[in-house]
Parts: sequence; structure tokens; C-alpha cells
Amino acid sequence: MRSIKGQDEAGQQTPAWKHLHPKMNFLTIIAVAVCVLAPSADCASNAIVWCYHNSSCSDATWPLISPLYCNGTRQSPINIVSANATEDEKLTEFSFQGYDNRSALATITNTGDTVKVNFHAGVKVSGGGLSESYDSLQFHLHWGNGTAQPGSEHTVDGKRFPMELHIVNSKSTYNTNTNLAVQDSEGLAALGFFIEELTGEDDQPASWKNLTSYLSSISNAGDITTIQHNISLDDLLSGVNRANYYRYLGSLTTPTCDEAVVWTVFKEPIKVSKNLIDLFSTSMRIKNSTSPLMVNVYRGIQASQPVSTQPKASSSTKSGYSLSLMTFALIMARY
Ligand SMILES: *[C@@H]1O[C@H](CO)[C@@H](O)[C@H](O)[C@H]1NC(C)=O
Ligand SMILES: *[C@@H]1O[C@H](CO)[C@@H](O)[C@H](O)[C@H]1NC(C)=O
Ligand SMILES: *[C@@H]1O[C@H](CO)[C@@H](O)[C@H](O)[C@H]1NC(C)=O
Ligand SMILES: *[C@@H]1O[C@H](CO)[C@@H](O)[C@H](O)[C@H]1NC(C)=O
Ligand SMILES: *[C@@H]1O[C@H](CO)[C@@H](O)[C@H](O)[C@H]1NC(C)=O
Ligand SMILES: *[C@@H]1O[C@H](CO)[C@@H](O)[C@H](O)[C@H]1NC(C)=O
Ligand SMILES: *[C@@H]1O[C@H](CO)[C@@H](O)[C@H](O)[C@H]1NC(C)=O
Ligand SMILES: *[C@@H]1O[C@H](CO)[C@@H](O)[C@H](O)[C@H]1NC(C)=O
Ligand SMILES: [Zn+2]
Repeated sequence: MRSIKGQDEAGQQTPAWKHLHPKMNFLTIIAVAVCVLAPSADCASNAIVWCYHNSSCSDATWPLISPLYCNGTRQSPINIVSANATEDEKLTEFSFQGYDNRSALATITNTGDTVKVNFHAGVKVSGGGLSESYDSLQFHLHWGNGTAQPGSEHTVDGKRFPMELHIVNSKSTYNTNTNLAVQDSEGLAALGFFIEELTGEDDQPASWKNLTSYLSSISNAGDITTIQHNISLDDLLSGVNRANYYRYLGSLTTPTCDEAVVWTVFKEPIKVSKNLIDLFSTSMRIKNSTSPLMVNVYRGIQASQPVSTQPKASSSTKSGYSLSLMTFALIMARY
């Protein structure tokens, strides 16, 4: 399971460009020491030790500890100003392959800074204004401290949601090699879904009840378990109209913050009951049973970027509008 332990934000295999997990102090110092003794390109990129909670490695320090690329100019996440989103008719519907497959989810892991679900091969996304097909590799989550303290990464008009789910996809050209994908300014496509509290319901929806039932077996960093329930991505994303979304070019939201991501942030949130949302911040540990709970696992807002979205008036609402105008005019004409 060790090889899987190194996975995170962007890849299925342990990519050389990604961080070691913030095993907070100990392993961190060892890793840095080893790199000082044997500086290699690999080591240099792997040695970046980051975290969310400790001021010596939290997101405020990332531009310093990982200046390539966390100090860049197209960093994520951002606050989306809905009124500023320009209309782009190329932002058509996506087509999803394998999202209805109830055997597509392979494993669920506590990485020490998120909960991540890896997919089996064959899950793909295309359309949606993407230049080609992308392989869907994994999803992971960002959260705050229960529903009381929201922890989505993106915000919309300043609103932060309780959680955010990120599906990480890699351009099919690169055949799931994320080391190659991050060298392409659009090599990765991230699909962001907000998660909002489903009020008045306990243990809903069933798909999230199924998914969160695994959390008790992955409370410590490095824990991994096979997903056996019949859950599909469509089940987890249910209720979201995936035709409506924001689009911008940004980055990975964890070091090394590579500026290689086409972001899609869906407008409608997934709705999950409070008790299931609260499970993340009350049962995941950043290391082991004696270490702190995993809370507030999100990066702060970065400089704004140009955002686009679907044209407001679709032809159907336009004709609906003129039809009602016409009806109105006809009614008026009778008087
Ligand atoms: C934060 O990290 C520093 C340096 O690694 C360490 O000395 C300190 O104990 C850590 N603090 C906490 C609260 O984990
Ligand atoms: C980050 O970028 C800014 C602007 O380009 C620059 O002034 C600053 O020195 C950079 N900081 C680091 C740590 O590289
Ligand atoms: C949004 O548009 C307004 C008015 O055009 C502008 O002043 C503001 O800076 C824009 N905000 C962002 C985040 O782009
Ligand atoms: C669903 O995914 C499993 C695991 O990857 C695969 O074996 C199976 O062929 C897929 N089913 C369909 C209908 O694609
Ligand atoms: C998270 O919420 C719990 C329960 O409300 C509280 O005890 C804890 O101090 C909070 N932690 C942080 C880091 O805000
Ligand atoms: C939840 O898990 C049960 C048992 O594995 C399964 O029968 C059911 O189809 C799943 N429901 C959803 C919505 O995923
Ligand atoms: C999952 O689905 C398969 C085939 O559809 C079925 O054989 C199996 O019992 C189901 N497992 C659960 C836990 O519902
Ligand atoms: C948790 O990790 C700390 C720091 O490495 C270690 O001292 C402690 O023994 C561990 N506790 C358990 C229960 O594994
Ligand atoms: Zn993420």
C-alpha cells in the first residue's frame, strides 16, 4: 500500500513533482536532510513540505517554500464574481464516460491532508469546451470544520460552501502520466463541486451515506481501503445540473501549485446532510490517533482570473419570453 500512500491532488501514481505528505515534523526533517545531503532534481521537488495547519508550512508560506509555482500569476482557488463572468457559447455540455459505473471507484485513502478516492481505468470526461478527452483519475475533498465552519476552496461572490469535491482529470494524450500533464498549461482538468447542507434530512443521500461509511476505517494518514459498495460518480453528483458551470485557467491548489489546470466549477451544489458532512472534520486525523483532527483543509483565495460561463439567455428561455410577451399582448388587445 506504500506506493498508493504517496498519491494525492493530481495523480494516481506517486508523481515526482508532488509533495511528501506533511508528516508534520519528523519525516519532514528527515526528508529535507536527505535532500540536503543528496540534492537531485527529484529530491528537490519532492522535498517540499507543506501543510494546512502549522504556521511554519501553511498556505501563507507556500509561495516561499514552493515558489515554483505557488508564487505564480494564475493560482487557484479564486473567488468567482458571478457578475464578471463573460459569456462563452463554446462552454457546451460535458460527456461523461463511466460515471454511471457502480464499480468505477477503487479505493479510498486518508492522505494526511485530504480524503481521496481513486478510480479504475476507463472513466473519462470530454466536451464542456475541453480541447480533448481527459481521463478521470480520482476525486478528493476540501472542508472546514463541519457545517458550522465552511471550507470550500472556491468561493462565489464571497460565499464559502461547507465542502468542495474535486475530480482530477488528465489529458488522455498523456495516458494518465501526470508528470507530463503538469507540463501542459491545460494538461489537467479539475471539476469542482460545492457541497451544501441538505437541511431537514439525516443520513442523506444514500450514496454519501455509503461513501462516508468508509471514513471510520481510514482515520489515520496512510490508511487505505477498497470500495466495495456499489456507488457511482453519478450517484455522488446527483442533483447537480452539470450544464451550468464557471470556467477559468488556474493551478493545483496544493504545492507545487502547477499552473496546468482547466478549472470547471459547477454552479449547483451537491446536497448532503449535516451529520455526514460533519463526519469528515470529526473523524479524520492528520497523522495518527494522537494527532489533531483534519479540519480547514483548503487553500486561501488567490488573485482573480478571467472567468467565463454559458450565455445567459438560452434559445429556449428566449422563445419562452417572447411567447409570454405575445400572450400578454393578445390579452391586452382584448381590452
Ligand atoms: C510546526 O512545525 C514546526 C517546524 O516543523 C514544529 O517545530 C512545531 O512543533 C509545529 N507545531 C505544531 C503545532 O505542530
Ligand atoms: C513572488 O513573486 C513576486 C512578484 O513576481 C516577487 O516580487 C516575489 O519576490 C516572489 N517571491 C518569491 C518568494 O519568489
Ligand atoms: C468585477 O468587475 C468590476 C466592474 O467591472 C471590477 O471593478 C472588479 O474589479 C471585477 N472583479 C473581479 C474579481 O474581477
Ligand atoms: C465498470 O468498471 C469496472 C472496473 O473498472 C470494469 O471492469 C467494467 O468493465 C466497467 N463496466 C462498464 C459497463 O464499463
Ligand atoms: C472545530 O469545531 C469543534 C466543535 O465545534 C471545536 O471544538 C474545535 O475547536 C474546532 N476546531 C477548529 C480548528 O476550529
Ligand atoms: C449503497 O450501498 C448499498 C449496499 O452496498 C447498495 O446496495 C446501494 O445500491 C448503494 N446505494 C447507492 C445510492 O449508492
Ligand atoms: C453490487 O452489484 C453486484 C452486481 O450488480 C452484486 O452482485 C453485488 O451483490 C452488489 N454489492 C452490494 C454490496 O450491493
Ligand atoms: C503518533 O505519532 C507520534 C509522532 O510520530 C508518535 O510519537 C506516537 O507514538 C503515535 N501514536 C500512535 C498511537 O501511533
Ligand atoms: Zn483539490
